[in-house]
Amino acid sequence: MNLYERIPNNVNLSGDMKLQRALEKWLPNFLDWWREMGPDGFQEKDVWLRTAIDVGSEGWAHFDYVKMPDYRWGIFLEPAEPDAKVGFGDNYGRPAYQEVPGEFRNSLRRIIVTQGDTEPASVEQQRELGKTCPSLYDLRNLFQVNVEEGRHLWAMVYLLHGYFGRDGRDEAEALLERRSGNPDKPRILEAFNQPCDDWLNFFAFTMFTDRDGKYQLSALAESGFEPLARTCRFMLTEEAHHMFVGDTGLGRVVKRTAQLMKQGDVKELGGIPLDIVQKYINFWFSYSLDLFGGEISSNSADFFAAGLKGRYKEDQYEDHVIADDQFTMVTVEGEQLKERQVPLRNALNEVLRGEYVRDCEKGLARWNKILTEEGLLERLYLPSTLFHRHVGEYAGHDFDIASKLITKEEFERRKDEWLPTMDDREYVRSLMKPVTEPGKIANWIAPPAAGIKGLPFEFEYVKL
Ligand SMILES: [Fe+2]
Ligand SMILES: [Fe+2]
Repeated sequence: MNLYERIPNNVNLSGDMKLQRALEKWLPNFLDWWREMGPDGFQEKDVWLRTAIDVGSEGWAHFDYVKMPDYRWGIFLEPAEPDAKVGFGDNYGRPAYQEVPGEFRNSLRRIIVTQGDTEPASVEQQRELGKTCPSLYDLRNLFQVNVEEGRHLWAMVYLLHGYFGRDGRDEAEALLERRSGNPDKPRILEAFNQPCDDWLNFFAFTMFTDRDGKYQLSALAESGFEPLARTCRFMLTEEAHHMFVGDTGLGRVVKRTAQLMKQGDVKELGGIPLDIVQKYINFWFSYSLDLFGGEISSNSADFFAAGLKGRYKEDQYEDHVIADDQFTMVTVEGEQLKERQVPLRNALNEVLRGEYVRDCEKGLARWNKILTEEGLLERLYLPSTLFHRHVGEYAGHDFDIASKLITKEEFERRKDEWLPTMDDREYVRSLMKPVTEPGKIANWIAPPAAGIKGLPFEFEYVKL
């Protein structure tokens, strides 16, 4: 593969002139979008970035200084498996789909567009953050995440152009036209319309919302539509770094807060109090739970039956058809929580959400370990999965963070205990002053345990 091709790829793009031309036509539009909506104020700076150049587990990435608009956004799919089969659903065991099956065309396009829409949305949400970076190391990580979300957009646009003809091309254009938080042309999913305008938001976003991405991509990596499965498998490789940024970023905030708690009043000392960290967790965790879709969902059943979207690590299960299985779901009936049996296929959003919650709990355990190591008894936790939901079974009802059904009035009265208030947000924003000297770090966060790829923290990750 040639890094200096116009569109680096491992899909033999030059062997498909029509597709190559279509993507080369989309490229300048993408670059216009990137310049308009990508990181504001840093487009001409040299950033120490990794660029995907291959999909092998070794040496898939190349590190160098790059100006972001010159980043080699490429198209990389994991190698095809010979004799790939549909791994679940009604067509279990049949040959995998190499083209879009006509009867699933609309569903598949919707899945790809919805995933694709999240990628540029997050870049838009984060475009102002560079101006308030806590260190050059963090600034570089932000930009790494941003350019890779751009590449993930490319990954989905490749599928739209390559497999959906005219309407795929229209959808690819529309992906560059919607804007995060714009009331007239918002992004598709609500978490991607929420502002992400301070670094505590950014770390919570990459911890919780990028982690939703991991689970969606994992379910799509099982897809019987081979090109989608192979694309998502490689995206997961990059996604791991995004979650690392969020997980360790919050961990470093917790560490610094713990240090300051032992010295005195955290706010007076210029740190972020633990209860504000907790509220940000509550906010982003609950919005990210919504991204999995309704608890009881005919779409999830249809996607599974069709072999389009599987479960997380489908291999861990014996039965890949689950035609008659039931799932016990907590539902709200007559202002009470009741358990109800629903067909498992209709509960697959909830099954995937359960995997996600267990993964998030591990993050909480890591942060609590930091508190223990600092000699503190305070603990962070995940709120109930029923709390503050806007999608699915629990939307339209009010719960406290311990799953208790409460009245709307009580929720309104108490929500400032659980969710960031205007004052909290303003306080956090007041701490966000850029620190751009190599080796220096803002007061509200601890430095990382190590730099990037064996380089020291003091390295000049971005040349300003
Ligand atoms: Fe992504
Ligand atoms: Fe990501």
